[in-house]
Amino acid sequence: MTPAERRAALEAIAAEVRVCTICRLAEGRTNAVPGEGSPDTEVVVIGEGPGFNEDRLGRPFIGRAGDLLTKLLGSIEWRREDVFITNVVKCRPPDNRDPEPDEVAACGPYLKRQLEALDPALIVTLGRHSMGRFMPGARISQAHGTTGPVDPASGARDATVFAMYHPAAALRSAEVERQSYEDAARIPQVLLDARARRAAAAGQQPASKPAPDPEPAADLTIF
Ligand code: URA
Ligand code: SF4
Repeated sequence: MTPAERRAALEAIAAEVRVCTICRLAEGRTNAVPGEGSPDTEVVVIGEGPGFNEDRLGRPFIGRAGDLLTKLLGSIEWRREDVFITNVVKCRPPDNRDPEPDEVAACGPYLKRQLEALDPALIVTLGRHSMGRFMPGARISQAHGTTGPVDPASGARDATVFAMYHPAAALRSAEVERQSYEDAARIPQVLLDARARRAAAAGQQPASKPAPDPEPAADLTIF
């Protein structure tokens, strides 16, 4: 995909999300929150779902948790505009409750299409709901600060996942906040490793031969 095609694909997805009524979360929302950021980024940051402020403005991570996310990125001299920020569900669950499995499943195709368009080298998950999509069965207390391979069925063709605590959890605990800064400090090296692994994998594939379809059919309904 050219950068212009990528931008157009992301805009088309966002336009669908804004008017989506596929699941019950549409009923309570003010604005759906498709996500935002650089269409040319190598890094996608994925939270859980919009909160009060995000719902009012239709933008991800703009409340207190968002301020902390901006600070965490700032601690490695990254700006939020340099990455793409989105959520597992695009509409605010009532009273900020956890998204239900059927809501996550209903919204999954949007995230999958975003990941297909962005083709990131690195996915940073924030909190356990987002982590659960990419590291099934992992526990956040153990998995935060660690990486894993991303299932291409997620839409991300060849990405590494890096799990972090949700910034809202860091706002509630000084220890989680400290560990979040520690984890953030690892991101630049994790990206370098993810990039190197992708380049090596690409080098092993002659350009004339298309890659085999990596999507296991059984996983299609999850995403
Ligand atoms: N929390 C999230 O998980 N996502 C947002 O966009 C804001 C707060
Ligand atoms: Fe549609 Fe996702 Fe919003 Fe549900 S949460 S209405 S699937 S955009």
